[in-house]
Amino acid sequence: MSATITPSVGAEYARILSVGAYRPARIVPNSEIVDLIDSSDEWIRERSGIIERRYAAKDESVVDLAVSAALVALERSGIAADQIGMVLIGTVTHPYPTPSAAAEVADRIGALNAAAVDLSAACAGFCYGLAIANDLIRGGSARYVLLIGVEKLTDWVNPADRGTAFLFADGAGAVVVGPSDTPGIGPVVWGADGSQKDAITMTQSLIDYRDNGGPIFPTLEMQGQQVFRWAVGEMAKACQRALDVAGVSADDLDAFIPHQANMRITDAMVRALKLPGHVPVARDIAYTGNTSAASVPLAMDRMLETGEAPHGGTALLIGFGAGLVYASQVVILP
Ligand code: UT7
Repeated sequence: MSATITPSVGAEYARILSVGAYRPARIVPNSEIVDLIDSSDEWIRERSGIIERRYAAKDESVVDLAVSAALVALERSGIAADQIGMVLIGTVTHPYPTPSAAAEVADRIGALNAAAVDLSAACAGFCYGLAIANDLIRGGSARYVLLIGVEKLTDWVNPADRGTAFLFADGAGAVVVGPSDTPGIGPVVWGADGSQKDAITMTQSLIDYRDNGGPIFPTLEMQGQQVFRWAVGEMAKACQRALDVAGVSADDLDAFIPHQANMRITDAMVRALKLPGHVPVARDIAYTGNTSAASVPLAMDRMLETGEAPHGGTALLIGFGAGLVYASQVVILP
């Protein structure tokens, strides 16, 4: 006879309690990058919107970046580290398949009662993680979740590759998600299309590199136009569905915070969504580059810090990237 199992009981709703950012100190203007890729400041600005980006120091690890952002988010949340039930990290640049960055971060910040796991969803990592955090809290598996999007892409980009070297950069953004009396995270609209796995991938696996060698350590390679077409064609539709399932209209938004992939992709999404002119749009890519899983929380932090978006306002988020994968939801800003 099967026993009756006591189910976990969670909070009715969850919300983002705080956000924190870590931008590495070193500012890298386009002029530092162009020679190796036969490019120009004008080309990079026009095609991507990027003016400068941040690079982490050689001895600054993914875990270091994550810890710095996490400590800011924790402090702003008023939640003690030992109250965190889960440390969830979206990253594709932690250089160890195991152990996870999350376990190390939990230890470093004193989240001694937390489970910890890394999540591989590339540039959608933060929005995937937010959906999971929402369900963990509502399902009762954790009361507070520390969610971090962090990348040190400079370790995995070939500085001589014209398609990626000017685009990708380093950084970390973190949020504390916790219980709420009112809905703070809308239903997620997400998906994956593995048939396009080669659109953003590595030049070879680490195993192939070990066995065959070759002049170049595995680095990112991207079919830029293929990803661009997919993003412009499909991501505005995903955003619209996220608005619809949340019962929120574009007119109600206080901010649109898409993954900072390329300023032209953001502009195309704004047009396709017919976003009213009064809705502020995150344009953090100009000074931060494309930081994959870190880009949405970094952009959120900048909008709140500069007053472009109001605390407690309603924001539409979307992340999309290698997989290909995407996730979008409406949230109440911390
Ligand atoms: O975050 C994960 C998801 N990633 C994305 O969403 C990225 C999506 N893709 C993109 O953002 C764009 O495809 C890029 C910004 C990466 C590239 O822009 P593009 O407008 O798609 O460039 P393209 O590859 O179509 O190249 C256009 C022209 C070509 O010259 P011709 O054939 O028109 O004479 C290229 O040879 O620009 C040339 N080009 C460059 N010129 C200067 C390509 N790369 C460069 C470069 N500098 N770095």
